[in-house]
Amino acid sequence: MLNDAQWEELIEAASEVLKSSYSPYSSYPVGAALLTESGKVYTGTNIENAVYPLSICAERVAAFKAVSDKALTFKAIAVVTKDGGFPCGACRQVLSEFGLDAEVLIADEKGNIIEQSTVSDLLPGAFGPSNLKNI
Ligand code: THU
Repeated sequence: MLNDAQWEELIEAASEVLKSSYSPYSSYPVGAALLTESGKVYTGTNIENAVYPLSICAERVAAFKAVSDKALTFKAIAVVTKDGGFPCGACRQVLSEFGLDAEVLIADEKGNIIEQSTVSDLLPGAFGPSNLKNI
């Protein structure tokens, strides 16, 4: 369980990276800050593209930054948007690969906490690495 100071740090980092969002098509900036087991924080923001499907969510940018730094176990993630929107299904799946028990905090741009949950609660019955053990 993260303490208040740790959550504040993550929300602050997510709010900061949200300012770098490249979202000219949706005008819906998203900021994510991911704490890994190593104690390091990786941030991500959504990056859109004129070829719409090539856009990527903030949570996956943060997750892929962490994994590319060999930080493979996620402890917590804070997601900040203007209205406190929840992570999409694709991001829930990617997060589950590296942290089914990771805590998730969803906040709006004013710092209001909209929801506190876990990846497993957000993605019940997740398909994961154990499903592929016998292949
Ligand atoms: N978006 C995220 O970054 N994370 C989510 O979990 C939901 C949606 C982004 C994608 C797109 O750039 C914009 O929000 C509107 O869908």
